Amino acid sequence: MSEPKPTVLKIGGSIITDKTGELAARTREIDRLTEEIQRAKVQNLIVIHGGGSFGHPVAQKYRIKEGFKEERQKIGFAETHHVMTVLNGLLMDALVWHGVPAVSITPSSCIITKNGRIQNFEDESLKRFLKMGFLPVMYGDAVLDAELGFTVLSGDQLVSCIAAGLNAERIIMGVDVDGLYNDDPKANKTAKMLPHLTLSELKTLQSKLDAPSSNDVTGGMLGKITELIPAIEKGIPVQIVNGTKPDLVYKALRGEKVEGTLIEKE
Ligand SMILES: Nc1ncnc2c1ncn2[C@@H]1O[C@H](COP(=O)(O)OP(=O)(O)OP(=O)(O)O)[C@@H](O)[C@H]1O
Ligand SMILES: [Mg+2]
Repeated sequence: MSEPKPTVLKIGGSIITDKTGELAARTREIDRLTEEIQRAKVQNLIVIHGGGSFGHPVAQKYRIKEGFKEERQKIGFAETHHVMTVLNGLLMDALVWHGVPAVSITPSSCIITKNGRIQNFEDESLKRFLKMGFLPVMYGDAVLDAELGFTVLSGDQLVSCIAAGLNAERIIMGVDVDGLYNDDPKANKTAKMLPHLTLSELKTLQSKLDAPSSNDVTGGMLGKITELIPAIEKGIPVQIVNGTKPDLVYKALRGEKVEGTLIEKE
């Protein structure tokens, strides 16, 4: 029997950290989610996590996304990358303790962007780890950039790029809200959740959504859906689920129907 096509799971920084704080990891959520990943036993799974209150505030403080402009940003670049490895370490610790053969792959060591877009991605190790049955784990990171010197690469761009490049079966995006809404549900209590969207409906919504407030350097929900469009265009369905609710990520991984937003090309 042939291998199943890969599944790409994004674990939002909004789930595993408190984005209103700084360096505020939610260790219970990390433990619960990694147990769900272990229990789901999905073959050919790639996990990518976001920066939450680790990567975003430091990257913002030193304006890492805008590129290299002054010497003092270098310590900021190092700090952004370092705090991401700390958050990644917490997730890796939990995965390995749950018996998952997870291996961390550092984006800043294998990816170079050009004006913020992935240009060079040495993905041979990722593919080989996957083929051997390991669970590769990557994350949003501070990376070198051919034009800007350095920048921030979002976990969301990484998800879309890997899913499209490996012709993934599906993308599951775990966030801290119930799905995609017609407005930010935290700011607008009357916002409506959208259970199903086609690509053209998504593009219409994209033009209506506002840029996020300050705690997400990679564009929040609007940045996320903008990044996902190329993967959806390739026919890869995207499921947005609330990863703070127990078992939703598990059920999504198992292919069960869960509340949330499903985005399909047609
Ligand atoms: N139209 C919308 N539908 C759903 N959520 C929205 C919408 N607009 C804004 N949001 C906000 O987007 C947030 C999720 O995006 P955000 O980038 O903050 O999280 P994340 O991607 O999980 O974190 P990280 O970037 O650290 O991985 C939600 O907490 C929600 O408040
Ligand atoms: Mg984000």
